[in-house]
Amino acid sequence: MSVSPLSQLPEAFLRRTRAWLSPPDFDAWCASVERPPLAVRWTGASEATAEGRSYLLEQGLEIEDVPWLPEAWSLGQISRETVSRLPMVADQLLFMQSLSSMACVMAVGVEAGHDVLDLCAAPGAKTSLLRRMQQGSGILVANDLSRRRMTRLRSLLEGLDIQGVDMRTGPGEMMGRDFAGCFDRVLVDVPCSSEGRFSLSDASTWANWSEGVIRGLARRQEALLESACATARRGGEVLYATCTMAPEENERVVDRVLRRGRVGMELIPIDLEIDSARPGLMEWGSESFLPEIRHTRRILGTTTTTPFFMAKLRRTS
Ligand SMILES: C[S@@+](CC[C@H](N)C(=O)[O-])C[C@H]1O[C@@H](n2cnc3c(N)ncnc32)[C@H](O)[C@@H]1O
Repeated sequence: MSVSPLSQLPEAFLRRTRAWLSPPDFDAWCASVERPPLAVRWTGASEATAEGRSYLLEQGLEIEDVPWLPEAWSLGQISRETVSRLPMVADQLLFMQSLSSMACVMAVGVEAGHDVLDLCAAPGAKTSLLRRMQQGSGILVANDLSRRRMTRLRSLLEGLDIQGVDMRTGPGEMMGRDFAGCFDRVLVDVPCSSEGRFSLSDASTWANWSEGVIRGLARRQEALLESACATARRGGEVLYATCTMAPEENERVVDRVLRRGRVGMELIPIDLEIDSARPGLMEWGSESFLPEIRHTRRILGTTTTTPFFMAKLRRTS
């Protein structure tokens, strides 16, 4: 009898994943863990976006357009080495970023002139797209706890020739007090158990996984989300995101912050057509979540997307 390559993953993790995914969605996720999908986006002048598309086709790649981001293309389950060797990718004119990560930035809903906070920003792939969405106007503050990772963010922005980002290093938990009511849009892409990044070719991606680690992360995530909410202006919006599937770090964090109600917030729908997105779970274990949790979105692992979770909240008072 052949042994599934997935049996390397922690048994408890597999049991939990089977509990919430339908059998066809579980199979699609398995395929995405064996060969993670890739995507790229154009970072040059917007008027020249077609050059990026033509270039990819000239390289013989099978590309799929992305309806909600015309300067991005999905490359399917192609090897990372093959793509990173392409000169336009090496020059970062075409930037490798997961489709789910790009979707997260689009869900923030940044417009030119918005003042934006990226609370857990490093190494900065999403920051760079947020700045592009601002079209050069509005404040962008990028914060992260890790000095080392902020150095990576700085060099990423320099490499992409992106200016006008106010970089800060410190605990996101303090931003709610220091920047109360300052921003139109806030992204809080929290540290998480990263189940969506598990890759069978890299055992380090799941080496630290445990249910205990998930519980510890969830406490920190609640504090970060509450702080993010406090930085939003009345009517301003906060996008909470993780690259994990664990309900304790996703629906449950949002549910608890809403129930506690320290900052007046309402959950609002996410206006993006993504085939592999599903409404958030309404229950997990013995716990039932608030009815509005249906507005949250889980992006599934498929041939084009890696697992991701998003919730969008608007400040009401
Ligand atoms: C999921 S990563 C962010 C990825 C980033 N948004 C991007 O797209 O490149 C989570 C980040 O949170 C940072 N972090 C962890 N604890 C934090 C805290 N208490 N306050 C602020 N940032 C924190 C980590 O250093 C890490 O860079």
